[in-house]
Amino acid sequence: MKRKKKTTVAETTPAEWEKTSLQRFQPLLSADEFELLTNELQHPLQPSFRINPLKMKPEGVLQLAKRYHWMLAPIPFCPTGYRLKEASASVSLSQTLEHRMGQYYIQEAASMIPVELFHLDADLPGLFLDLAASPGGKTTHLVSRGGDRSLVIANDSSAGRIPALQIVLQNWGAVNQMITQFPGEKYGMWFPEAFDRVLIDAPCSMQGLRTTESHETRPVTDREILALSKRQVSLLTSALQAVKVGGEVVYSTCTLVPEEDEAVIDQILDRFGDQVEVLQTGISAPGLLSDGNFDYHPEVERSLRLWPNRLHTAGFFACLLRKTSSFDLPTQPPPSRPLERTGFSRLSQTGQSRLAHVLLKDYGFDLAALMEELDLVLVSYRDRRFAFPRRMLSQFADLPVQSAGLPIGDESPDGFIPAHAWISRFFDLFTEGRVVVPEEAVSGWLNFEDLPFEGDTSSLPAVVIMTDPAGRYLGRGKLTGHRIRNLLPRHSR
Ligand SMILES: C[S@@+](CC[C@H](N)C(=O)[O-])C[C@H]1O[C@@H](n2cnc3c(N)ncnc32)[C@H](O)[C@@H]1O
Repeated sequence: MKRKKKTTVAETTPAEWEKTSLQRFQPLLSADEFELLTNELQHPLQPSFRINPLKMKPEGVLQLAKRYHWMLAPIPFCPTGYRLKEASASVSLSQTLEHRMGQYYIQEAASMIPVELFHLDADLPGLFLDLAASPGGKTTHLVSRGGDRSLVIANDSSAGRIPALQIVLQNWGAVNQMITQFPGEKYGMWFPEAFDRVLIDAPCSMQGLRTTESHETRPVTDREILALSKRQVSLLTSALQAVKVGGEVVYSTCTLVPEEDEAVIDQILDRFGDQVEVLQTGISAPGLLSDGNFDYHPEVERSLRLWPNRLHTAGFFACLLRKTSSFDLPTQPPPSRPLERTGFSRLSQTGQSRLAHVLLKDYGFDLAALMEELDLVLVSYRDRRFAFPRRMLSQFADLPVQSAGLPIGDESPDGFIPAHAWISRFFDLFTEGRVVVPEEAVSGWLNFEDLPFEGDTSSLPAVVIMTDPAGRYLGRGKLTGHRIRNLLPRHSR
């Protein structure tokens, strides 16, 4: 007789896994809540997004709803978040010009919680660290909540995930940020008690009971969970070491596995219970006090365990912690590579005046005023000019970075060419050098077609700013004879 082959986790399909994982969670729930959860999972998740206050005024969301005939519902726990009623979504969230221009970020509603948990004073610029940041959804939220004068360090250990983070932050128009690529475990010992707020949105097994575009439910082994849990404890320890006394840390995962959620907080309280407290959040979704085998520290209940039925989201876990006194842990000097050794240098006074003059003359853009207002400095790398956060140069000048700030543009034989990311962020301040794309040509232009042009070019710079007849930014174009060459970046589709 043939022996029945044992099915391994690797052979389990995502659909089979989704069913068995729901059963695995059943013992953690009351019968009533399990029924509510099972019912909830019959309904699709509503798409949701968060608007970019750097690029969109509060009334912009009403204009969006009107333009695309969207029925929107505000997300109660995130003032900049909205859900889209699927029935009204004849134009999907990812298809609009506004999405392409970084005016909103498509994000599952639960993922809006971690950054909302921080107590922040918009008038007090802070120093923030996002320890595991790519692709940057929550970093954009930190940038928005921190305001332009705060500095955000976005770190991720994976080299392959840095480009996505760079694209997302540039598209968001985030100037006061820098991106690093280090194991997050190092930050605490390199920069003890340096940051006002630290977010650790930890790598996890993604058992959120919902398959979304960015979170596919996949089979996971107990061994993997154990390894993840160890890494999560190390990352959270590093985050807590890096935060100032009195500062806050948010720990979050998109998994419902207790070993990666409550058990992590429990281990931290076991070790640092005298130096750390878990804060209440005001959202009713208490953490577990036991996983059936182990009882957790009573403060763990103040965490947020979001079974999908609680707030109609994917499964999620978050915990807000405050450091109440210093940690006695080893420290180490951080790696050092002076900025000048990387080819970047501060722009000379003459270079600054020249750049400010050209931008004012060609585009009506007052660079000097903006640098002052947002506390930025001008930096040069070959022909490219950047705006870097001043605070980065005063506090982290020697820390090796992957990128920082926003590119302003390039010196070229045709004159100074402003960068798309810069115009897209400060579009309203570019009052000259604009060309309107006729209504009938807008869709072709957005599909990267060039535009025939017979107008007077004598007062225009070589690279012009394109708008639609309603005055919305459509990217840059280069005047060449009787046409305008389309310079829309390809990743902006
Ligand atoms: C859940 S994702 C972060 C999602 C991101 N916060 C967002 O909202 O877009 C976890 C990230 O942690 C990174 N990561 C994994 N191990 C890490 C470590 N030891 N230190 C820093 N980052 C790590 C992964 O590369 C991944 O990008």
